[in-house]
Amino acid sequence: MKAALEWQIACGVDEAILDAPVDRTEAKTPSKPEAAPAPTPIVREQVDPVALARAAAQAAPDLDGLRTAMEAFDHCDLKRGARQLVFCDGQRNARVMIIGEAPGRDEDLQGKPFVGRAGQLLDLMFSHIGLSRTSPDANAALYITNVLPWRPPQNRDPKPDEMAMMLPFLERHVEFIDPDLIIAMGNHACQALLGKRGITRLRGNWLQALGKPVLPMFHPAYLLRTNEAKREAWADLLSLQARLRDLA
Ligand code: URA
Repeated sequence: MKAALEWQIACGVDEAILDAPVDRTEAKTPSKPEAAPAPTPIVREQVDPVALARAAAQAAPDLDGLRTAMEAFDHCDLKRGARQLVFCDGQRNARVMIIGEAPGRDEDLQGKPFVGRAGQLLDLMFSHIGLSRTSPDANAALYITNVLPWRPPQNRDPKPDEMAMMLPFLERHVEFIDPDLIIAMGNHACQALLGKRGITRLRGNWLQALGKPVLPMFHPAYLLRTNEAKREAWADLLSLQARLRDLA
């Protein structure tokens, strides 16, 4: 069994996706095929998760209260498959807030957004205009979060209902950080914040959401596989730098 497990790990298996273990060594008698067990019906409470999320987010008195409220929110199924809530990284006083899509494997393990390969590229990109998540100086600092705080299974795209129910928390998050500018990283962040998709068309254009200027940019995961898009990403970084200077 240990060898079988090690073989799966070597093949790249890195998570269990069912709630209960399946004993695949259990002997099956081929002459007597078992009837498939009737699926257990999922009994759902009749609740409006968006309304509950809005109430919980509004009741949060501050940023730490918001994290606690999100940890206690049980209506998003992603929570059951994730190791932990990924809330934020960076400096609370930052003028620039980056909003990504959702945690991946590394983020789920470490509990911080953008710590995998895409995150390393993100750090490198912003360092070229003097911004970092570790700088204590508000003018040089970044604050980072995601639309979804839990990793979707196998890094699948976020579903509309998941984004809708987590949006009140994101809105409150923006309210508490109160940044000067927001970067919407990729299509899902644009969908959540601006109600628009089509990052190739949107990127580089300053738009407005939640009372803040928002700059859509290509997601660093996309840049990792699309070298030619880095030219546009650099133009967007320069646009951000110019906008920060104007505001200062
Ligand atoms: N991609 C995202 O959008 N967010 C993360 O935190 C990591 C990868």
